[in-house]
Amino acid sequence: MIPPQVIAIIQNCYPRWSPTMYKATLLGMVASAFLMPLLLLSIPMIEFFNGMAAQPKGKAQGTYGRVFGEARIVERPPVPGTIPREYAAYAMDHLGNTIEDAVAAGAALHNPMPITRETLMRGQRVYEIFCAACHGKEGYGDGPVTGPNRFPAPPSLHTDQARGYADGTIFHIVTKGMGKMPSYRELIPPEDRWMAAHYLRVLQRAANPTPEDLQR
Ligand code: HEC
Repeated sequence: MIPPQVIAIIQNCYPRWSPTMYKATLLGMVASAFLMPLLLLSIPMIEFFNGMAAQPKGKAQGTYGRVFGEARIVERPPVPGTIPREYAAYAMDHLGNTIEDAVAAGAALHNPMPITRETLMRGQRVYEIFCAACHGKEGYGDGPVTGPNRFPAPPSLHTDQARGYADGTIFHIVTKGMGKMPSYRELIPPEDRWMAAHYLRVLQRAANPTPEDLQR
């Protein structure tokens, strides 16, 4: 029960209260200290310690918090095999990231983007943002991040081999990555990858113009 010292202290503060009053007051205070959180938790809009439920996070989804029998569900995991609505599957996804895979993909794909001033300008923008750091602004494999003790320089894009690649091969390399070159599928939308391939052709023809190119 309540120690007599505590009662004595309260009696000093409120000398006109009867001992029963002190006890009742104290009991009331203690009881409400315990009951208040329960009362607040039962209001659904208020969550204490919500485990950061209201922010994006990578934690597995499932139920959390069981308040008075009601389990709340945070975002169920999607049904296995579900893909996002806007997602277009990549037809050559089963192929890997070797040059043989890229050449095989190139034989099966064709560049769906037209060659216009706009698509070439867009391709240039994509190339200069995403590729030039390694491949160099003109494709000679001398980008600013390459060099001794830096990123290994990629081969020039003006070799006979690279000039012989189909657009689809370039698309596949950008999509899946190759060797030390990482995949850019998360960063560059498919149309932009195709337009970058068009622009690569511009760089290649500028470096090795055909006699007809020079006539123009
Ligand atoms: C982080 C540096 C880096 C970036 C950025 C990069 N690449 Fe590469 N790329 C490489 C390296 C390194 C190789 C050589 C890979 C190998 O053979 O192992 C390569 C290879 C290639 C090849 C094949 C060249 C050949 O002769 O076989 C193509 C085509 C290519 N990249 C296109 C691109 C395009 C287009 C972009 C931009 C969307 C890009 N790369 C961005 C590093 C990069």
